[in-house]
Amino acid sequence: MENRISKLAPSILSADFCRLGEQINELENNNIDLLHIDIMDGVFVPSISFGMPVIKSIRRITDMFFDVHLMISEPIRYIEAFAKCGVDGITVHVEACKDLEATLDKIKEQNMKCAVAINPDTEIEEITHVLEKVDMVLVMSVYPGFGGQKFILESFEKVERLDKIRKDKNLDFLIEIDGGVNVENAGKIAESGADWLVAGTAIFSGNITENINKIKEEI
Ligand code: DX5
Ligand code: ZN
Repeated sequence: MENRISKLAPSILSADFCRLGEQINELENNNIDLLHIDIMDGVFVPSISFGMPVIKSIRRITDMFFDVHLMISEPIRYIEAFAKCGVDGITVHVEACKDLEATLDKIKEQNMKCAVAINPDTEIEEITHVLEKVDMVLVMSVYPGFGGQKFILESFEKVERLDKIRKDKNLDFLIEIDGGVNVENAGKIAESGADWLVAGTAIFSGNITENINKIKEEI
């Protein structure tokens, strides 16, 4: 875990869907190999984003790691369907699952990486029982549902605590942070122990290549 290099995971929620393929190519040309894909059901979160047909289409044009963030109630119902779309890793919210462990097991059975997400008001204690099972923990640094919100400062402490737990217990889950990441706070977020930094607005508004270069200089 020492000498970690933090990576950027652009969230296509903020992409221009008329030019999605082109924008994904631009990410790849900048050596981005993670793509964060936000799925919202209008029930667990107020908004609805997009679903399987979009993932299937973009799977044809890139080998990037598809990091799918399910903001949906009872995601266990859809794990196989997402696996069939060529997803590499699935994140489910602890707040959205009746049986979190069974949901994570199902993701693993489908040969995908599994991760658990916690909302800003959810304590780390809610997920300590699955830390040995997961490949990653996603700390929400905004309330899920929309791009373009402000980073919640308490999230730094959550990342630091998770980083300490994994060191103390000799675990190797990754820590991902999602929401309000930008060029100003990316350095501090990486320093606090986050491995994957999701960024939507900060990457897709304006010039993508310039935005990536500026953020990469900080992490
Ligand atoms: C919010 C989503 C995020 C979102 C981040 O519910 O999970 O992935 O796209 O967007 P920004 O970077 O604009 O906060
Ligand atoms: Zn997300």
